[in-house]
Amino acid sequence: MSSSDPQGLQAFPDELSEREAWLEPFDWYREMRERAPVRYDPTRKVWDVFRYDDVKEMLDDDERFSVSPRNASGFQEPEGEEAGVMLDTMLLQDPPRHDELRGVVDEEFSPRTIRELEPRIRELTTELLDDILDNGDEIDLVSEFAYPLPVIVIAELLGVPTEDREQFKTWSDAIVSAASEDESGAEFVERQEEMRQEMAFYFIQLMEDRRENPQDDLISTLVTAEIDGEPLTHREILGTCILLLVAGNITTTNLITNAMRSFDEVDAVDELAGDDRALTTAIEEVLRYRSPVQAMTRVAMEDVTMHGETIEEGDQIVVWLGSGNRDERQFDDADEFRPDRTPNQHFGFGYGTHYCLGAPLARLEAKVALSELLSRVSNVTIPETTLEPTRSSFIYGVESLPIRFDRE
Ligand code: HEM
Repeated sequence: MSSSDPQGLQAFPDELSEREAWLEPFDWYREMRERAPVRYDPTRKVWDVFRYDDVKEMLDDDERFSVSPRNASGFQEPEGEEAGVMLDTMLLQDPPRHDELRGVVDEEFSPRTIRELEPRIRELTTELLDDILDNGDEIDLVSEFAYPLPVIVIAELLGVPTEDREQFKTWSDAIVSAASEDESGAEFVERQEEMRQEMAFYFIQLMEDRRENPQDDLISTLVTAEIDGEPLTHREILGTCILLLVAGNITTTNLITNAMRSFDEVDAVDELAGDDRALTTAIEEVLRYRSPVQAMTRVAMEDVTMHGETIEEGDQIVVWLGSGNRDERQFDDADEFRPDRTPNQHFGFGYGTHYCLGAPLARLEAKVALSELLSRVSNVTIPETTLEPTRSSFIYGVESLPIRFDRE
């Protein structure tokens, strides 16, 4: 098992290993919810959990279900000062340390603070659209628009010069990606480790700079923060920088792209253009229907019996948020995309203690991006093309999405 990314998330279940299956995993989820809502997969050596209520129970109970891979049987601590730093971040720590670490940046990501960023995000979006809409009547929505926007925003918040953002794409994509077809497991691990080290080195230089010259940015907040009179550890600061970069990047990109696919599918593009309220509700439905994060892992802290199966202490569990979000026990016509669905208690941002820190930011970015784009184009169509799923076994989206339009 790789230390910082639990194996259960790095490997595809056999059933989803084909391209088409990972583009449309929803029939398989439905079958599993009925036939084997909690099942052990001996190949990946993990449990899979599919129903809404079970997903909720697990995410809501950090005493019985830990986020830390360190609690998994057979876990081996990675060697090296900066190896596996994500293990020391809030994402992979249980309370009380989780709450202390989250407390350091909570305010910076609160809905109130994030609301103040709207004019700047609109400005960045407009600049991006000025550039890309100039060149013709077709763009790749992913690489030209939905990818750069969240990277620029988080780079600004962290305090990273924007000229380094192409480099960020390489790093953050590599960290969430699965192995490619033409590389061996060992090559994959080596490539990932190389990327992690490059990124770590880059952030360490910035951290040193901000210790000397604190600025109004997140890296400065992290290097100057104290918890009970003690600074955060080197690993905690470095890990949090990487977490904030990686967690908010490809996820938000895919939210924007998955939204366009979904709106197009039900011919809702025109109706949502110019109506930010309706758009806000529709984005929640995208988070449910095509959740950018399909799965998360937990480790059982005691033996737990569910649906007649006993998960043993130390076993790893893959909690399928994307399947919970399609559970017909919770949602009427769960396999239908309904832009005006309310209420909509989805798990797109998780649930409970680890509920996504960046949810207000991701929602704002998606709303501004889609509202600005749709105000400047009309007659949007998605040409027939073979879609390639995002190369990750827990992030859901497509590698590229051509869209055609008339300019307003
Ligand atoms: C946690 C999804 C954007 C930062 C999570 C979790 C999910 C999620 C499902 C829960 C993990 C768990 O329970 O184990 C998403 C989606 C996004 C998004 C779908 C975009 C559409 C962002 C952004 C940021 C961010 C923009 C910050 C810049 C985090 C952090 C955590 C987290 C720090 C860990 C919170 C904790 O452990 O308390 N996210 N996220 N996310 N997310 Fe997001």
